Amino acid sequence: MAHKPIIVVGRKLPEAVEARLARDYEPRFNSDDKLYSTDELLALCYGADAALPCHSEHFTADVIAKLPDSIKAIANFSVGTDHVDLIAAKARGIIVTNTPNVLNNATAEIAMLLMLGAARRAHEGDAMIREGTWTSWSPAFMVGTQVTGKRFGVIGMGRVGQVAAERARGFGMDIHYYNRNKLDRALEKGAVYHESIEDLLPHCDVLSLHCPATPDTIKLLNAERIKRLPDGAIVVNTARGAIIDEGALLAALKSRKVAAAGLDVYAEEPTTQSTFKDQPNTFLLPHIGSATHDTRDAMGFRALDNLDAIFAGKEPGDRVA
Ligand code: DGY
Repeated sequence: MAHKPIIVVGRKLPEAVEARLARDYEPRFNSDDKLYSTDELLALCYGADAALPCHSEHFTADVIAKLPDSIKAIANFSVGTDHVDLIAAKARGIIVTNTPNVLNNATAEIAMLLMLGAARRAHEGDAMIREGTWTSWSPAFMVGTQVTGKRFGVIGMGRVGQVAAERARGFGMDIHYYNRNKLDRALEKGAVYHESIEDLLPHCDVLSLHCPATPDTIKLLNAERIKRLPDGAIVVNTARGAIIDEGALLAALKSRKVAAAGLDVYAEEPTTQSTFKDQPNTFLLPHIGSATHDTRDAMGFRALDNLDAIFAGKEPGDRVA
């Protein structure tokens, strides 16, 4: 390639990441951090060698079919790849990569924040202070759920799930999990494996979701499964909103079958979070699981490591298609 590879950059990235991009590539930056329409994204890809999108840029089968032949790779700035049709990309010979591992700690921190925020009614208390409606105290005031010593259930005991479990152990919680494969004992660290989600659910005082959104996991937490949770369980989701049947969760929150939910992700973003906004027993964040300076830099560098390998003719470390 005579020229430096031309890279379409989906969103505004951290300074250090953009500096490395500018040094090694010919980037088409998104300096205004605009959410591109499909047509804008496709127009930018014309004549480019690769794209570096976030989960906000959707490379559906239709978009991939319209990509110019010059695009060799989609190097995601995300661990989740549900915004890319991997089968369509593979069929066109487009390499797809993600950024695993580097966001485990940041996302596990948010899982703990959501668990505690939901269990201890943080948003209700915060609103009272800000709105000036806190007028008195009594033993019956703002009573929530204590998580110390309770059971922390994980669906998807991958990299983030394991770190979240480790943090929950800090609260003396017993860990139960479901995963496609049972972990080695050394990684389990005493966690109890359940062979099915159905078996796991009755053991979850807190249920924390850590599996990717795939055709198999869409609406994985549905009304039938919610019934299997202990009464008064807490539901936490830092993975993807699509893995929860949001209508079913809302009904369970209204009936108090589920005492509270802490959610960072929603089925359609930024739209379906409004399903929960008037429900007091929810603690809601706007998809910020990996939003720390350290992690954003690490995600960008990991995406660039993948691009560097691809344009050096090597196998990228994080190839998913
Ligand atoms: C990820 O990396 O998948 C996060 O959700 C941010 O996109």
